[in-house]
Order: sequence, then structure tokens, then C-alpha cells
Amino acid sequence: MDILLYPDPRLRAKNAPVTSFDATLEQIARDMFEAMYRTGGVGLAAPQVGVNLRLLVYNASGKAAEKEQEHVLCNPKLVFKSREQEPGEEGCLSFPDIRGQVTRPIKVKVTAQDLHGEPMELELEDWDARIFLHEFDHLEGILFIDRMSPVSKSQAKGQLQDMVEHYRETQDAS
Ligand code: CO
Repeated sequence: MDILLYPDPRLRAKNAPVTSFDATLEQIARDMFEAMYRTGGVGLAAPQVGVNLRLLVYNASGKAAEKEQEHVLCNPKLVFKSREQEPGEEGCLSFPDIRGQVTRPIKVKVTAQDLHGEPMELELEDWDARIFLHEFDHLEGILFIDRMSPVSKSQAKGQLQDMVEHYRETQDAS
């Protein structure tokens, strides 16, 4: 399972709700964790692997061995976000060499379904809230460059242009 790189249009496509809580879904989630660990990430959203479903996975430790920290969220909904926000540095597996400052709420409340369709509720803070919000954005077609501070965005400008050019070249070649 490969991770799509910016500016692949599937990163901006609409994501459908998960409706089949079956073995295929479980396999997609498993493959997403593998791709995430392999590339050193802490979270991954289904559209990043070309699956346009409202599905995200994360493990704040980033360690495959820490299974108890693995979360799979289907059809997540943001039911509360704190007014208090904090800037922090983020990366994204669809932008391997880019990092930047993004300001986000420090607390969120989330509802979602697990791989069996069972409802769950989560209260997340700080780093976990940031990871969730970053991945949740992917389900809305929003990328972290859309929320980056103007300074970070201008620092990344050249790299972003290179990525666009590289993407065009790969498209022309195929
Ligand atoms: Co990302």
C-alpha cells in the first residue's frame, strides 16, 4: 500500500462514509498501520492511500509494538473543540520533507465507530488532539499546508512547487 503524495487529486476528493464493517475494512486498516509505521508516521487517513472513505488510523507512539495505542476511527465526528488553541510543528506523510507550524484546538471530543461499527466516544488533548485533527482534516479534503502559518508556508513554497512538478512528470510518463 503506497502513500499518495501531494498534489495527487485523491487527497482532495470527497470521502464516503464507511458502511461495510467487514473483513475488507479490517484489512485496509491493517495495511494503513503498516504503511504508517514503515514511513515513520503517527497517523494516516484513508484518502492518503487512495481509499476515499471516512476512515483514519493513528498511534501517538508511532511504534508498531505499542498496539494498545492503536486507534481506528470510522466516520469520526468532531463534537467539541476547545476555543483555546496552540501552535505546534506538524509533518504529513503525503509531504515527506515538509514540516510547518499549525495552530489547532488543544482539546476535542470525538464520536466515531470502530471496525465493527460500534459507536465510541473519545476526549483527546494536546498531541493526540493534534493528530486526530490533522487526520480528520484529510477526510474533509483539507491538507496541513492549508492551515500552516504564513512563515512556514513561505518556507515550504519551493518544495511544494517541486512536488507539483514531480507529480506532473510522473503523470506525463504514465
Ligand atoms: Co497528513
